[in-house]
Amino acid sequence: MTQLPAAQQPPRAADQPKALYGGAGTRRITVRDLLAAKERGEKWPMLTAYDAMTASVFDEAGIPVLLVGDSMGNVHLGYDTTVPVTMDHMAMLAAAVVRGTRRVLVVGDLPFGSYQEGPVQALRSATRLVKEAGVGAVKLEGGERSLAQTETLVQAGIPVMSHLGLTPQSVHTLGYRVQGRGDEAAHRLVRDAKAAEQAGAFAVVLELVPAEVAAEVTRSLHIPTIGIGAGPDTDAQVLVWTDMAGLTNGKVPRFTKQYADLRATLTTAAQSFASDVLSGTFPAEEHTFH
Ligand code: KIV
Repeated sequence: MTQLPAAQQPPRAADQPKALYGGAGTRRITVRDLLAAKERGEKWPMLTAYDAMTASVFDEAGIPVLLVGDSMGNVHLGYDTTVPVTMDHMAMLAAAVVRGTRRVLVVGDLPFGSYQEGPVQALRSATRLVKEAGVGAVKLEGGERSLAQTETLVQAGIPVMSHLGLTPQSVHTLGYRVQGRGDEAAHRLVRDAKAAEQAGAFAVVLELVPAEVAAEVTRSLHIPTIGIGAGPDTDAQVLVWTDMAGLTNGKVPRFTKQYADLRATLTTAAQSFASDVLSGTFPAEEHTFH
């Protein structure tokens, strides 16, 4: 039997947390815990995070994996796409998420232009995120087209999450539409996912692909699949946290589900504060020093 790369080996039974989501534990989740969860058939949730305070809320809520996604471009930095995000942005915000958390596995995205030149550039960028920000893994887009990068990072001991299907860094060629429709595209997606696994990736994000294709990829791999707009049959699900919590302004993709209305809550809080200031009821005696 071929020996799996360390990042694809589950931990010894004694070292395993009871459950990924919400499970008690004093150490950080590792990529090997995610593989063990796949073996147990346990599903798990992943969210994005871009700052220490929000990340600490998700950590305390028991979410096992946080992605410091290059979606920070749209969500946090006010750009139209993820393309302008730089390594400086990523290193700073990933470090904040690591500092704000104790248990989660923090995954840092490699932004556009930080790994496409080849394995040497990818290794330099990923090493910076591991050393400077303290992430436990990195994510990069592309299956076969990013194989050399994945292999190099894995050999250097840096766990790699692969991102297939709709890859937002290629928005100028792909647009924002469902990927993997039709036999040929579906086969290509399965091939890409297997190639990523073969290169040593510990998980594969499947974005905006038909549920049937995502299910087929999930059955074909030993490593977990993480769906976003990929139907119910992936091993894990990820959402951009501001979509999940109702903070995003404007239209959100059909595949997201809104679990709170933070935009309305914050608007009301800001308006109540303003009205107290205007009426002179804030600050009151209990907020005042003499
Ligand atoms: O950047 C990001 O937030 C992502 C997720 C949508 C998977 O890549």
